[in-house]
Amino acid sequence: MPSSAATDDLAKRLAALPSERWPRHIAIIMDGNGRWAQRQGMPRVEGHNRGGGVVRAITRECARLGHIEQLTLYCLSSENWKRPAEELAFLMQLLKSYLVDERPIMMEDNVRVGMIGRREGIPDDALEELDRTVALSAENTGLRLNLAINYGGRGEIADAVRSIAGEVAAGGLQPDQIDEGMIARNLYTAGAADPDLLIRTAGEMRISNFLLWQISYAEIWVTDRCWPDFDEGALHEAIIDYASRERRFGGLSSVSS
Ligand code: IPE
Ligand code: IPE
Ligand code: MG
Repeated sequence: MPSSAATDDLAKRLAALPSERWPRHIAIIMDGNGRWAQRQGMPRVEGHNRGGGVVRAITRECARLGHIEQLTLYCLSSENWKRPAEELAFLMQLLKSYLVDERPIMMEDNVRVGMIGRREGIPDDALEELDRTVALSAENTGLRLNLAINYGGRGEIADAVRSIAGEVAAGGLQPDQIDEGMIARNLYTAGAADPDLLIRTAGEMRISNFLLWQISYAEIWVTDRCWPDFDEGALHEAIIDYASRERRFGGLSSVSS
């Protein structure tokens, strides 16, 4: 990260944040790869390529910072299959090489990797590399990195409802036993804490079917920067902004109460 007065100031403010002001779980909608590339006169896929390097840098920084327990990255949505075949083939190739190349770094950084999304539709060779990375890193105790691949929030909720309905049909469950906790336990994210901070790059003010259930009380931070231009300084900015927010969860402000 280039050092300047501004980045030094951010780093100082970050170091001064009390532990309870840190987001424990950060989720990121990594958007704007195509626009970034087109603005440089490059093909869209070059933006994905550059974006891969940013994934590495941001994962390493989250692991280094220490207070962050989970990082969830939106890599491919269930709607992204609408894109041209060549772009999808490139993304699958990139995913595969990312999973292979990052393995030693993830081990060094004590990162545990997991996947959320539907496996059906992801090519077998990419799934094999994914399974290898997940197995290899399973005993790591540091940052948990959740890769959302072929992920859609509505599809996830539909899968959970189908599974719960199956238990009801089999006679093992009464409808009045269904509560929020049971739904959460049937999502791909079962057992994991919800995101505290949701970051979206490239300026769009929308959720694009990401973690619909889990972000009900996440703090949202949007930057105009495209993902290939996102860096550690921007991450620090988002965390500092998060730390200044008052999360009320439907209650009253601590000042008025
Ligand atoms: C995000 O960048 C990466 C994926 C969705 C896979 P985009 O490819 O959506 O880039 P823009 O939004 O078209 O600029
Ligand atoms: C969201 O970005 C999906 C990922 C970042 C993987 P999109 O580019 O697909 O979102 P829309 O189409 O602009 O809503
Ligand atoms: Mg996009």
